[in-house]
Amino acid sequence: MRIAVIGCGYVGLVTGACLAEAGHELICNDIDEGRIASLQAGRVPIYEPHLDAVIEETRGARRLTFTKSVGEAIRAGDAIFICVGTPPKETGEPDLSAIDNVARQIATEARSPKLVIEKSTVPAHTGQQLKRALSAYRRDGGATFHVVSNPEFLREGTAVEDFFHPDRIVVGVDEPGVAEQLREIYRPILERRFRCPVHAAACPPTAMPEFLVTTINSAELIKHASNSFLALKISYANVLADLCEKLGGNVDEVTRAVGMDPRIGPQSLKAGLGFGGFCLPKDIQAFIYLAKTVGVDFGMLKETERVNQQRVERLLEKARKALWVLKGKKIALLGLAFKAHTDDIRFSSAIEVLRRLIAEGAEVCACDPQAMDRTRVLFPDVKFERDPYETMRGADAVLLVTEWPEFRELDWERVARLMARPLILDGRNLLNPQRMRKLGFEYDSFGRPE
Ligand code: UGA
Repeated sequence: MRIAVIGCGYVGLVTGACLAEAGHELICNDIDEGRIASLQAGRVPIYEPHLDAVIEETRGARRLTFTKSVGEAIRAGDAIFICVGTPPKETGEPDLSAIDNVARQIATEARSPKLVIEKSTVPAHTGQQLKRALSAYRRDGGATFHVVSNPEFLREGTAVEDFFHPDRIVVGVDEPGVAEQLREIYRPILERRFRCPVHAAACPPTAMPEFLVTTINSAELIKHASNSFLALKISYANVLADLCEKLGGNVDEVTRAVGMDPRIGPQSLKAGLGFGGFCLPKDIQAFIYLAKTVGVDFGMLKETERVNQQRVERLLEKARKALWVLKGKKIALLGLAFKAHTDDIRFSSAIEVLRRLIAEGAEVCACDPQAMDRTRVLFPDVKFERDPYETMRGADAVLLVTEWPEFRELDWERVARLMARPLILDGRNLLNPQRMRKLGFEYDSFGRPE
């Protein structure tokens, strides 16, 4: 079965490249011709660990091709993954115009039956709208379409690993037999018959992935429900951190023990600056909006959002408490990406911190292993340093705002000597408080009082 991917953003690229790596033949298209030209020239427009190697290999083996012609991709693919963006509008409602546009293109370009797979994160009922759109735009006597919802659960920074080692593959279908075609596409993953691009020696022993067949509506809801629950857990951990500060507990100890209960689980319980990125913030907005349209008040998600929005202010409060006025202070900002192992700065709490520091008149010097080029475009007046030590030289304070492991591994003894005032405000609870204080730093983080 030949597979087409429409939309070469992060999800489309990872899906296309990994399915090609798993042995399929892929053709990918994007409305942005410049992006396709880059990919055709072998340049990968995003930083995602292992992705460039997978793309290089599968392009070399001619299993992965890129085309500027959407018609060519649609006609070539028996299965078409729709991976276009669904950005939020002012109201929180996702903008589905790109999906509508692709539906029109598929309906007019298709000459043979197509499996149309909705991969973009969309609200419940989009699959039903997609079916309607395909049939409304279809030419007389044109091709038949089978719509599938196949939400992705990839995390940026570990997306290639997640693709090859998923917990579950969810397939939402409303017609018999269609799920089997998806099982065929995912067979190499389900049966672990692939050469893993992430684990050179052997993959870690994990449970085999579940193949879950649901209705289209359920599949769409599963995606929103999963991301919203992760957001809720993170905000919960952040409120616990605030409580620990007031009551004298240590949030790391609390969440570690809480997460050991298998009913709760250890992940997404790390307190800090809260969640950012292009998934969690927009997904909870969309879910709140969707619930409201059907008369359901999703109050707990609104609270999740409110707690998250306060995190940056909480860090700035700490900065003001330690430095009194921020105006004119030399602040080293470690981190810009919304989390480690990505160059994505969309809805990044680190960027929000940067914005607020500039607004208060601080003199900021920033460093990030991957996200500086993207940030420089937005903040031409900010000083950026590739070398974290140079970033911190002479600074009145360090604000650590993205959880890059390389920041943990720095020679902090050396840093203490470089800074004008050895003060660390760790917005990601990344460093060890005892060790930092022993090295002579004034140190504060979230929910880990002295
Ligand atoms: C999220 C989900 O985790 C994926 O399962 C989903 O497929 C994806 O959205 C999507 O919808 O495409 P992602 O946005 O890459 O993935 O990031 P997460 O790893 O979930 O982290 C989100 C944010 O929360 C980051 O800013 C991170 O720093 C923060 N975070 C995460 C915490 O503050 N604490 C934690 O314990 C975990």
